[in-house]
Amino acid sequence: MSTQGKVNKVSVTTIRTMKQNHEKIAMLTAYDYPTALLLDECGVELILVGDSLGMVVLGYDSTLPVTMEDMLHHTRAVTRAVSLSMVIGDMPFLSYQCSVDEAVRNAGRFLQEAGAHGVKLEGGREYAETVRRIALAGIPVMAHLGLTPQSVHQLGGYKVQGKNQSAATKMIEDAKILEEAGAFAVVLECIPSSLAKAVTEAVSIPTIGIGAGPDCDGQVLVIHDMLGLYERFTPKFVKKYSTLNKNIKRSVKKYMKEVKDGSFPDKSHSFL
Ligand code: KIV
Repeated sequence: MSTQGKVNKVSVTTIRTMKQNHEKIAMLTAYDYPTALLLDECGVELILVGDSLGMVVLGYDSTLPVTMEDMLHHTRAVTRAVSLSMVIGDMPFLSYQCSVDEAVRNAGRFLQEAGAHGVKLEGGREYAETVRRIALAGIPVMAHLGLTPQSVHQLGGYKVQGKNQSAATKMIEDAKILEEAGAFAVVLECIPSSLAKAVTEAVSIPTIGIGAGPDCDGQVLVIHDMLGLYERFTPKFVKKYSTLNKNIKRSVKKYMKEVKDGSFPDKSHSFL
């Protein structure tokens, strides 16, 4: 994030330069003010307000019920906290699929109404025109290939994508088409490491992997997964850096015990 000791706000230029300099890019999701504050203070380059919030924050079974209003609400909380990271708003199901005009308008809402610095949308070459028009409106747009959770019913589940040669070749072509259309980066989700490496070498925009091996230009994880807060389902590609669920339960049980036995509040937490 810094040039000659000076800390700069992360932009598409920073991200592009990082790929050129072979510097890895760190992206994490955040959906609320306190988490975004911590990530920004840590210097995470990209914060994604992912539609994964449908599952890890709102308790749905998939990302499909998430609305534009949900996304804008959470994106506002995140951007209020952030001063250096670049905040990407994830376009929810049906906010960009129906028409290109609606997609541009909804992408613009993330910037105009929620203070985001860019948007992400799922899909390959069939969204090239949408990406082109959003980028033409001056909105940085991140593409998303591989396992695209909004298409879970069409994909038949949350499965590794691009396993056969024709699917792999198509994904490499899709990445090139989306780059040409104006995407500034592309998320590669749940694909073989060798394919992620091939995509990374085929495009000059950064690739951000999740379940896509070590050769992407950057990595992203869902914050609730990597902190061990969300236990309903843990994909193979998630590394748990913490077990916050255990810490929280331990603290809650201690608080309950102290309330019930009268040891909280003591004098130091009371007004005399
Ligand atoms: O919604 C999300 O959090 C995402 C990431 C997993 C890339 O799309």
